[in-house]
Amino acid sequence: MSMTAIEFLIRMREHFARGLRHDDPEVRAEVRRVLDFLPPLENTPEPDISKPAEEPKLLPAVRAFLKDNPDILGGGWLDLAERLHWRYSYEQRADDPDLDARMGWYEFIGPAAPMHSDRVGFGITFARPGVNYRPHYHPAAEVYNTVIGSLTQRVGDRELTLVPGSFSYHRPNVIHSTRIGDAPVIQIYSWTGDVVTLSQYADASGHRL
Ligand SMILES: [Fe+2]
Repeated sequence: MSMTAIEFLIRMREHFARGLRHDDPEVRAEVRRVLDFLPPLENTPEPDISKPAEEPKLLPAVRAFLKDNPDILGGGWLDLAERLHWRYSYEQRADDPDLDARMGWYEFIGPAAPMHSDRVGFGITFARPGVNYRPHYHPAAEVYNTVIGSLTQRVGDRELTLVPGSFSYHRPNVIHSTRIGDAPVIQIYSWTGDVVTLSQYADASGHRL
């Protein structure tokens, strides 16, 4: 039998909870907040996740990567990944066509997710090698916890390199961008605060559009 979403979320929560021991007190505080807002997974019914009618554009890349790397996050979740509505919520970019086939995410818990929450967004991202996720911002406070791969991030005026196990915290409305290294990246992410307002791109000089 394939893994349930709840079983997978328990693994994600375990990985993410390592942030409680992070050196940065802002990371620790935000991880604590997220964990407090998550539903009690062991006592929560399995959400209704049915396979999308149309294959998400990102799925072929996710499928290929999980087949080649079957042990990620404990392994055994390829069947679950096949049922997820991997998405990308920005407008298409003329300067980077098909970005939605190279990066995206799935939110298990959140305002529009199968497990409803108005307090927290919690999900998983996937990005192919070389993706340039241009400067963007949102009013939610955000944590990224890298599971596999490496990437560089610009957060405000700081430059960070993230590797498996790394955490990064983005304060509300700080402009941040990501460049994926030469291997695919999977990250667990969380949002708190205004979890409804979508992310927006900033302009080329980093100013809000
Ligand atoms: Fe973000």
